Amino acid sequence: MPLLGKAVRHEWALDREFLSVNHGSFGAAPRAVLAAQDDWRRRMEHQPGRFMRAVFPDALRHAADRLGAFVGADGKDIAFVDNATTGCNAVLRSLRLQADDEIVVLSHGYGAVRNTVRHVAERAGARVVEAEVPFPQPQTDAILANIAGALTKRTRVAVVDHITSGSALVLPLRQIVALCRDAGVPVLVDGAHGPAQVPLDLRAIGADWYAGNCHKWLCAPKGSAFLHAAPDRQRDLHPVTISHGFGKGFLAEFDWTGTRDPSAYLATPAAIDFHQRLGGEALMARNTALAAEATALIARRLNTEAGTSGALSGSMGVVRLPIAGPTTQERSTELRARLLAAGTDAPTHVLAGAIWLRISAAAYNEIDDYERLAEIAARVLREVR
Ligand SMILES: Cc1ncc(COP(=O)(O)O)c(C=O)c1O
Repeated sequence: MPLLGKAVRHEWALDREFLSVNHGSFGAAPRAVLAAQDDWRRRMEHQPGRFMRAVFPDALRHAADRLGAFVGADGKDIAFVDNATTGCNAVLRSLRLQADDEIVVLSHGYGAVRNTVRHVAERAGARVVEAEVPFPQPQTDAILANIAGALTKRTRVAVVDHITSGSALVLPLRQIVALCRDAGVPVLVDGAHGPAQVPLDLRAIGADWYAGNCHKWLCAPKGSAFLHAAPDRQRDLHPVTISHGFGKGFLAEFDWTGTRDPSAYLATPAAIDFHQRLGGEALMARNTALAAEATALIARRLNTEAGTSGALSGSMGVVRLPIAGPTTQERSTELRARLLAAGTDAPTHVLAGAIWLRISAAAYNEIDDYERLAEIAARVLREVR
């Protein structure tokens, strides 16, 4: 594996003065990937009419095939979308819900996706049922039991995160999908953090739909994400924007949703190449090990506890912030703003009656970054005490 950490930081345009330890929120596209995106833009603007009609359709399908090979799926079952939120919206807004139907979500589900569930449920008079994710340090069996306990005869879909946002848990997805399928419940996976944080084999997971981001851990340009739909789930599935392809099939509907800049999608193969150049699976394993080491280090320095460890953790980790007083959203927002002002982007979240600091371990990070973060966090905590 090539050298990582500081040795590869020049590959990104990241500010060296700022402590970037939050790859999980918005990713960061390396210079080589942005150059590939620029190249696509140049080709597009050189002959826009010819590009859109004669170059783009095949180039998009080629990018989907490359992505399919990377995530263990057929390219023909993959549509590019702008982000995981849009992918989840497409699935949820395509459902034909009846009054009293139920949608299962997780207590740690991402706010934007939970809002989408609420929206479609309210429109139909359906119910949102929450399966509790135990926290901190949950056990796989307890997670599975809570999801199984939330399913009923009225459940029309279960919306499950692959990797949770605020708590950074890598959920036991194969087992969750299997138990839902046994109960006859289709599964939409919010895989915003999945691709290139953990090895992905969508065929083996067997979910009905999987919405994944390429602009987070795969380091594609922002606005590159995908929706994978099992072949038997494509017929009644529509993009958020209906365009010329309406009624003509999954790819016809999703591949053209009006004129837009598709360069982020087309540069995604360059991001896959970059990820493989830095080690691919070995890089993911290295990031997971670094996140575990960093989480333990910060928990030790702050004399507190980690929220995740072992099989349920990936390239992110969370540490409880030892503060007295209210652990409200407002307090969390204030802490986040203070951390930003102090020169770092590590986010905070309210969970299980406490405020947690989340760290990410990307290729350009190394353990020194978290020593620095621990110092900054300790200073900020002294300020608010
Ligand atoms: C679990 C989860 N779902 C969805 C999203 C939204 O991703 P995007 O803004 O790319 O749609 C995020 C973003 O952090 C997330 O953590």
